[in-house]
Amino acid sequence: MVDEIKILLVDDIAETRESIKKLLAFETDFKVVGSAGNGREGVELAKELRPDIIIMDINMPDMDGLEAASLVTKAVPTVGVIMMSVQNDSDYMQRAMLAGARFFLSKPVNMDKLYSTIRSVYEQYEIIRRQYEQMQNNVGGPVLIDPDDLKKENDGDRAGHIIVVYSPQGGAGCTTIATNLASGLMREGVKVLLIDADLQFGDIGMFLNLTAQSTIADIAEDVEELDTDFLDNIVVTHDSGLKSLLGPARPALADEIRENYPDAVREIVAKINTYYDFIVVDTASTLDAVNIPLLDIATKIMLVVNPTLPSVKNSRLVLDLFDQLAYPQEKVVLTLNRANDDRRKGSGITSERIENWLKRPVSAQIPGGENVERAVLHAINKGIPLIALERDHSKSPTRDYVDLANQIYASLMGTGTEDEQEQETEKRGGLSSIFGRR
Ligand SMILES: Nc1ncnc2c1ncn2[C@@H]1O[C@H](COP(=O)(O)OP(=O)(O)OP(=O)(O)O)[C@@H](O)[C@H]1O
Ligand SMILES: [Mg+2]
Repeated sequence: MVDEIKILLVDDIAETRESIKKLLAFETDFKVVGSAGNGREGVELAKELRPDIIIMDINMPDMDGLEAASLVTKAVPTVGVIMMSVQNDSDYMQRAMLAGARFFLSKPVNMDKLYSTIRSVYEQYEIIRRQYEQMQNNVGGPVLIDPDDLKKENDGDRAGHIIVVYSPQGGAGCTTIATNLASGLMREGVKVLLIDADLQFGDIGMFLNLTAQSTIADIAEDVEELDTDFLDNIVVTHDSGLKSLLGPARPALADEIRENYPDAVREIVAKINTYYDFIVVDTASTLDAVNIPLLDIATKIMLVVNPTLPSVKNSRLVLDLFDQLAYPQEKVVLTLNRANDDRRKGSGITSERIENWLKRPVSAQIPGGENVERAVLHAINKGIPLIALERDHSKSPTRDYVDLANQIYASLMGTGTEDEQEQETEKRGGLSSIFGRR
């Protein structure tokens, strides 16, 4: 039996509410449980009715959809908000996603698109609902996604850590970090996969001089079909041994995935993570229906920030969203790229100031400057991760990327000393008691 998806409609135009309601009634798995004419009413109704999905207009009197989305996702963490607007530009979409929306649809709404979006968002929340049920007596409190919960779903026997490298600012250095991190995590007996989730402008293929016969585009439509044999066929292996899953070869294919199967990359990662010890995911800077679900299921998010005002400002907004989504603070590894850039003498922002602004520690740093840029570009031209290209790991910047990878490795796998293992166990005990099941 399929679940019944409870839906709340929030739109100031009664006619729109009515017509959407009628059209949703054709689908037997949908149930419209209520409707509201402005954001404030929508938030109140959501608290009372606890719907699975809210379809929300952006422009409304009294309280608009952005403010309402932000309030409602805090109050009812199990609800997925689908935002609708007649304004259809990327700026509006970013604002909607930053407010906590899961999807952005332009008006007039294509009903088939709405149907599939509702089902896809509902499915994304499966893990959050499950965790919520386990947390009795915590109505209105945060729901943390327990990465271990994902592992139960598939049958590999690896550690399955998912590391998503993200920056809200383009060109911040994500692909360079993701590639070297994946390369630096490799060691005997440890399986690592690098995934290019920057579907439209992905650079992993270029950085590693790889082309693939099959890509994410070939599985996006039917992730269910993905098994280990299929996986072996679409994963390409670099000369250095690094395994990668590349994005679609043409931007048009990327558009199709983003339009029709935005959740496909998350589904792929969630299905195969236990076949690997680490999956490193490189992402695009847009906050969209591809990236947010990936950030949800990440074990660690490497949030890449540069010492510039726009980068710090955008990182602040993203960190606020992470708080709103109840991501635990230790899930985010704030990574300062281009630290101490000597060309920006005087105007560069120090890591201390960044820590002050963002109110959390900079956990990792990669220097900037001409020498670093030259080394990084040389590696790209060779199509080899810097770590694999340079034998000497003692010199910067290779050493910095090695340190970064070692730091992540140690924090997730433990380095083996008894003290550290004890600390790890204590930490985990602490977390599971939050979930109420020790
Ligand atoms: N620490 C660094 N110092 C100097 N140059 C760097 C550093 N990190 C990356 N670069 C250079 O900056 C450019 C952008 O890096 P990269 O492609 O990794 O960023 P990105 O965040 O993936 O960008 P995009 O938004 O295009 O995906 C590259 O040419 C890279 O060589
Ligand atoms: Mg990139």
